[in-house]
Amino acid sequence: MSAADVFLPRDLPLWQAARPFLDVRNNDEHTIVAYGLARALLAQIPEADESVVLPAVVLHDVGWKRIPEELLLLAIGRNPTRKDLVREHELHSVAIAREILERLRPAGVDIEAVLAIIDGHDTTREARSLNDAVLKDADKGWRTTPHGMRTIAGWYGVPVTEILMMLRERSNALMLTPQGRALAEANTAAVAAEQQIQQYLGRGPEFPVFAVSEGAQW
Ligand SMILES: [Fe+2]
Ligand SMILES: [Fe+2]
Repeated sequence: MSAADVFLPRDLPLWQAARPFLDVRNNDEHTIVAYGLARALLAQIPEADESVVLPAVVLHDVGWKRIPEELLLLAIGRNPTRKDLVREHELHSVAIAREILERLRPAGVDIEAVLAIIDGHDTTREARSLNDAVLKDADKGWRTTPHGMRTIAGWYGVPVTEILMMLRERSNALMLTPQGRALAEANTAAVAAEQQIQQYLGRGPEFPVFAVSEGAQW
């Protein structure tokens, strides 16, 4: 474990238990990035309870595993035709998360409080509590990260301009905390501005992807 590790030691067993349920529709990648965002939001919102929010982030989407894979993209996106599956995945997530939490019993974690915010994390829009708001902001905030935008664009085979439109028209309005709203708006603005480099400079960004993956010293 190093300071750069995303998951807290308390939540690593939960992550291991959740992984077999997260290998559909990039949910495993989504969960890692959303957890990192949740930690950043919690650092800005100390009144929220990390022992509720973080386990909930790890387990909130495990239920998608029980939805037939070919239907997954119909449940989300700009014009979803199977919204009923969104509620269904929440109910499956609660059942699976309950089994995992009651088996592992992580120290200091209020299991019912975790399950209460997993239930309804997508189908309720208002903040039912501060913990609920931070979970939702980490989840929806993921869409505004470079990883989230690339992933969603890949699912639907659409350009980043479509994703930016979806974020501005629909998704960013769902952010519930001032900190989450700032995160989403800033991420969206930065990616949108990067798209205009071509317009102002007559060429794209010098480094469109990370040029080196590891090993460099600076
Ligand atoms: Fe979800
Ligand atoms: Fe999610």
